[in-house]
Amino acid sequence: MRHFLTLADFSKEELLEMLDLAVKIKAQTKRREFVSYLEHQTLGMIFEKSSTRTRVSFETGIYQLGGVGLFLSANDLQLGRGEPLKDTARVISRMVDMVMIRTFEHSKLEEFAAYSKVPVINGLTDSYHPVQLMTDYMTMMEYDKADNPIVAYVGDGNNMAHSWLMLAAIMGFELRIATPKGYECDEAIVAKAKTLAEKSGATLLFGNDPKAAVEDTDVVTTDTWVSMGQEDEKEVRLKAFEGYEVNSAMMALAKEDAIFLHCLPAYRGYEVSEEVFEGYADVIFDEAENRLHAQKGIMVWLDRHRES
Ligand code: CP
Ligand code: NVA
Repeated sequence: MRHFLTLADFSKEELLEMLDLAVKIKAQTKRREFVSYLEHQTLGMIFEKSSTRTRVSFETGIYQLGGVGLFLSANDLQLGRGEPLKDTARVISRMVDMVMIRTFEHSKLEEFAAYSKVPVINGLTDSYHPVQLMTDYMTMMEYDKADNPIVAYVGDGNNMAHSWLMLAAIMGFELRIATPKGYECDEAIVAKAKTLAEKSGATLLFGNDPKAAVEDTDVVTTDTWVSMGQEDEKEVRLKAFEGYEVNSAMMALAKEDAIFLHCLPAYRGYEVSEEVFEGYADVIFDEAENRLHAQKGIMVWLDRHRES
């Protein structure tokens, strides 16, 4: 049995198998052809943080695959009153067929997975957001940007930046990360990505100059400057990230046919200007829709790799 905790748990070939499934199931869905790949299966969805896309895409996705999703807010579970996570994992995983968790520390997700009898999917932790990156890569494929692209990530060295690092390191493309000083990526995660990059031939570049990072790139992306759980730091962060807004002047430095991606939610006037956001809205909302399709590919793949 395999869990989907980080992209680094998989080979390039395995991730491409999941995306192949996603592309096939997306085409079927567009034809209103609903194949019950996961008939009678239940997906438990534990949320310790807010969500729009992750909740709606997983719940709709499992339903369209012939199963059902259970929305489990941590506040309403006994977990919120102190029931140990490992007990919650042992109970829930005896009843459902797959679990998706959105939580804070990545170690909590790992603990849950260690005690779970069924595949566990990372729906975002403080360290990683791998389902979003599968979606972003699927969108790059659709926009003809997956063949040896140069990608710039401008902003916070957060869970999105870390997942971009893993994606680039596994797929073997060039990723340039520009962060303000003091907001760089986690050193251990960078080291892990560099090891993977040696095998794939990926180029991973780090710096504090967003304009230099964006120059001649195929894909430009960013994320909020204030992630969930960092609300108290908002004022300090907004100051530290001055000059990091992806605006028209910055996009003009990228290749003429470059695309802009954003995992959403987007904060206009901060990490992205209104003009850039609306200018690339078609791509951004294709990307948002692809959460539904990419995650179906992941769930069906995990189901096919259960212990027999
Ligand atoms: N991108 C993303 O994960 O969105 P939600 O927080 O709305 O789930
Ligand atoms: N970095 C953001 C991503 C939201 C999808 C957060 O963790 O809040």
